[in-house]
Amino acid sequence: MADKTLTLKNNGNGKSTELRLISGTEGPDVMDISSLYREMGIFTYDPVFVATASCHSSITYIDGDEGILRYRGYPIEQLARSSNFLEVAYLLLYGELPSESQFNEFQEIIRYHTMIKETLKSFFDGFHYDAHPMGIMVGVVGSLSAFYHDSLDIHNPRHREISAHRMIAKMPTIAAASYKHNIGEPFMYPRNDLDYCGNFLHMMFATPCEDYEPDPIAVKAMNLLFILHADHEQNASNSTVRLSGSSQANPFACIAAGIASLWGPAHGGANEAVLNMLQEIGDVSQIDKYIAKAKDKDDSFRLMGFGHRVYKNFDPRATIIREVCHEVLEKLADSNNPMFELARRLEEVALEDDYFVERKLYPNVDFYSGIIYRALGIRNNMFTVMFAIARTVGWVAHWMEMMSDPEQRIGRPRQIYTGAGERDYVPFSKR
Ligand code: CMC
Repeated sequence: MADKTLTLKNNGNGKSTELRLISGTEGPDVMDISSLYREMGIFTYDPVFVATASCHSSITYIDGDEGILRYRGYPIEQLARSSNFLEVAYLLLYGELPSESQFNEFQEIIRYHTMIKETLKSFFDGFHYDAHPMGIMVGVVGSLSAFYHDSLDIHNPRHREISAHRMIAKMPTIAAASYKHNIGEPFMYPRNDLDYCGNFLHMMFATPCEDYEPDPIAVKAMNLLFILHADHEQNASNSTVRLSGSSQANPFACIAAGIASLWGPAHGGANEAVLNMLQEIGDVSQIDKYIAKAKDKDDSFRLMGFGHRVYKNFDPRATIIREVCHEVLEKLADSNNPMFELARRLEEVALEDDYFVERKLYPNVDFYSGIIYRALGIRNNMFTVMFAIARTVGWVAHWMEMMSDPEQRIGRPRQIYTGAGERDYVPFSKR
């Protein structure tokens, strides 16, 4: 088939050029503008990347208009129903579902790396007791760069793989330690007889004084939430990891950058913000007041957990979580939980309101995830940390994909300069 092209003409000077159209497996065609400056002397402008593809990727596919999310071709609904987080991690990293023996081997490798260096534990003491756990995560994960010199050659694929395993394995340990630091309890060592999520719950809730066995319902819910949060193509934190990694920075520093980006309330910080918002609203009688605030352009209040840059239909992850939310609350907490009732009513009211309908603002994944985490006994300030544990798999998969991409070079956006034109320096005495 002949290459698809698009002709671009500058009406100002009559110059024109042919631009190649690239087709992916699915999704809209993409105009290749890499020759544009050379051919036409102009840049393109797309300040927050609403219409710009930054790379080729075969990891995750999203169709925001249809509400579709697939990891390596597998619909998120099927993975959520039938898989577990570590299997999904394998899929995202290696591109295929593992055989049983490949899965067992992968699980063993991840278990082998769950501990952190004893000296790393002393890092936590440098943080004030009330430090936000995401702040601790940014610092401690970044500091891993200083520990693993045996496998930090980013040009060596085997080193990259070892770093990936280390990050996936150690993230729950560091996350749980940040929580224990917050509440003033001793850190718990990992238990490698447990699975990934069970071990995380153990490190969070066990103490040296009492036995603790993770509740299977909690383990199942956590696997599900981690699967739903594992990847989401070129979102802000994945793009941050890729841009950081494009300079050939070490992977631990890149993931720390990803964690920092995730923290913001417009991104992963939304799950914490949703619970804080529900607490602030407090009662169904206050819903109208807060809906009015969200619509008021002079008020900075937004309905947290609503809206998405890509999903303009519904967020398929929110649909799955909403169903599970009922089940978890029924089994683990009070099914008449007022927070859940408040969330349900808020959703109902917003979905019928013209402002939200016209702008296609639907509940996103974070609208319900915090409620489930609360039912599992996890504090509000740990919600985004939970997201970070799961998304580490996506960050690492994207970093690995980028590092083996022959097109990979340092990322370097351009700008529209709007500052002063050339002018001469004036000494103090003449200013
Ligand atoms: N509440 C009230 N108005 C909203 C909201 C909201 N949550 N989200 C968007 N709008 C309005 C916005 O004011 C704008 O209105 P207008 O056209 O009149 O100026 C219009 O909808 C389009 O919004 P936008 O800010 O241009 O959209 P965006 O694509 O830049 O932002 C978003 C996407 C997710 C940052 C935004 O919807 C938002 O801030 N939502 C709340 C935070 C949130 O839940 N974030 C989690 C995202 S899902 C988890 C993840 O993947 O990270």
